Amino acid sequence: MPAAIVPYRPEHLDGVLALFAAERWLTLIEDPARTGRALVAPGCTTLVAVDGPDEDVVGVIWMQSDGEIQAHVSAIAVGRDQRGKGLGRSLITEALDATGVTRVDLISVADEFYGQMTERRFQGFRITRGDVGLG
Ligand SMILES: CC(C)(COP(=O)(O)OP(=O)(O)OC[C@H]1O[C@@H](n2cnc3c(N)ncnc32)[C@H](O)[C@@H]1OP(=O)(O)O)[C@@H](O)C(=O)NCCC(=O)NCCS
Repeated sequence: MPAAIVPYRPEHLDGVLALFAAERWLTLIEDPARTGRALVAPGCTTLVAVDGPDEDVVGVIWMQSDGEIQAHVSAIAVGRDQRGKGLGRSLITEALDATGVTRVDLISVADEFYGQMTERRFQGFRITRGDVGLG
């Protein structure tokens, strides 16, 4: 059976955190309760891919959208042993469909993955509080 993509529920949090930890996304794992709140914050669409009888979390996408036009991918990750099966593309497709918006922007460390879906490419930045002198 291929992994199923379902809406995120709080019982998926540990599995999602494990995926984030595997990528060393420290900001997303340092305060699990905060991440749990962020995944279900207003405007967020979070889906997980679950696999096996125990419904292990093998993938996640966390998208934010205005519900009308624009979305942004906050995080997408697929477990290492599940990659290359189309799960990443399905997570993007299903999350975009769930938001109902026209387009989704993102910053990328996986250009070839996104390049399979579109030729529309822009440069991006990430500005932190520290960058602008906030504590
Ligand atoms: C990016 C990611 C979500 C893709 O998930 P996936 O389930 O493997 O995606 P798909 O199977 O739909 O597509 C994978 C295809 O993309 C292409 N690809 C090329 N470069 C890639 C890259 N750096 N990362 C992922 N896929 C890449 C490959 O052609 C691959 O197909 P192949 O396995 O036949 O070579 C997954 O690799 C991942 O979790 N990476 C670590 C976290 C990460 O980088 N997230 C994105 C942050 S911007």
